[in-house]
Amino acid sequence: MSEWMRQIELVTDSPEQTRRLGERLARCLTGGHVVALVGHLGAGKTQWVKGLAAGLGIDPDAVHSPTFTIINEYTPKSGLLLYHVDVYRLGSAAELEAIGFSEMVAAADGLVAIEWADRVAELMPPGSVWITGSMPSNLGENQRQYAITSDRPDVIDALQAQD
Ligand SMILES: Nc1ncnc2c1ncn2[C@@H]1O[C@H](COP(=O)(O)OP(=O)(O)O)[C@@H](O)[C@H]1O
Ligand SMILES: [Mg+2]
Repeated sequence: MSEWMRQIELVTDSPEQTRRLGERLARCLTGGHVVALVGHLGAGKTQWVKGLAAGLGIDPDAVHSPTFTIINEYTPKSGLLLYHVDVYRLGSAAELEAIGFSEMVAAADGLVAIEWADRVAELMPPGSVWITGSMPSNLGENQRQYAITSDRPDVIDALQAQD
């Protein structure tokens, strides 16, 4: 981890609270930024993406994990697109490359959110925001723990701010 990397851990008490964090995160990011989501099924990765969508002016109810399509693209009335990638069923990083992942990042016309990013970690560009969700047994049913790592202090500050 570079000396500029900052990590915070926080716990949310509801899916809505997780989505609000995603909404705040979207406002800190610009085209070509990658949000790399990690964690088992149910960790709340898709809730983060719904929040990112809301932050970009996209209907969060339209956002579902693109398990069979690998990539879903959502277009707001104006502003950045949202590329929603889920590599759960992908065999390798090479497959993601073949779909055009690097071009999508380089185009810089949208935010890129990627579920199960640890499986293709070598493709995540510098400046990615890593979010790792977990459900430790000491937490309640509607709580999730997130470790967020970024080399951008503004991202960390925005997520730490109170609701
Ligand atoms: N604090 C929380 N944050 C996010 N999701 C939560 C939380 N509490 C309960 N949940 C529930 O957990 C599930 C998370 O699902 P989802 O976002 O699809 O996870 P993933 O994409 O990681 O598989 C949803 O059913 C959501 O309602
Ligand atoms: Mg999901």
